[in-house]
Amino acid sequence: MIGAPFPIAMPDAVHDRSQFPCGTPALDRYLREQVSQDIRRRAAACFVALSDARRIAGYYSLSTASVPLANLPDPVRRKLPRYATVPAIRMGRLAVDVQFKGDGLGGALMVNALRRAASSEIAAVVLGVNAKDERAATFYRHHGFLRLRDTPLTLFLPVATVAP
Ligand SMILES: CC(C)(COP(=O)(O)OP(=O)(O)OC[C@H]1O[C@@H](n2cnc3c(N)ncnc32)[C@H](O)[C@@H]1OP(=O)(O)O)[C@@H](O)C(=O)NCCC(=O)NCCS
Repeated sequence: MIGAPFPIAMPDAVHDRSQFPCGTPALDRYLREQVSQDIRRRAAACFVALSDARRIAGYYSLSTASVPLANLPDPVRRKLPRYATVPAIRMGRLAVDVQFKGDGLGGALMVNALRRAASSEIAAVVLGVNAKDERAATFYRHHGFLRLRDTPLTLFLPVATVAP
């Protein structure tokens, strides 16, 4: 598991959210126009990787979620209590500025999210993601995420994969 190449912090007014091109306009727009409101309303938490004091090189968002126990693969399900749903943390968005793509920042942000989930005082069994398309799903699978049964673009990784 790799450490992040940049410091990771919560977004702040000094961070420039107006210039963030990741190649997916909806994710740029979310950072520019929506994330502050989601944070204020406690609909999501956001964490940004900073290449300098103001510049955002990548970000991800987290919120709570739940996953139907029946949708987890048997080897994972067998180790869990028989509740209908399993507590999860959802990484709703993950994006890296095109200038920093391919340098490991996306993977490092993912590990950072997983560690955050593992060290939270609120229990969660899995970190889940909704891949926006098959290409994004391939990226997550490359990092060890597994598909949920019946919803192939929803993937998960057991939080216990990392030490807190
Ligand atoms: C997807 C994204 C976050 C990846 O960020 P990144 O910093 O370029 O990724 P990394 O450099 O950490 O890539 C790490 C590894 O994933 C691999 N990888 C990257 N994209 C991949 C893909 N689509 N399929 C399979 N593997 C992929 C890389 O080859 C690399 O492999 P390695 O660690 O074995 O060398 C970034 O490209 C992005 O912001 N894309 C637009 C938004 C998006 O698609 N978000 C994701 C999900 S909804």
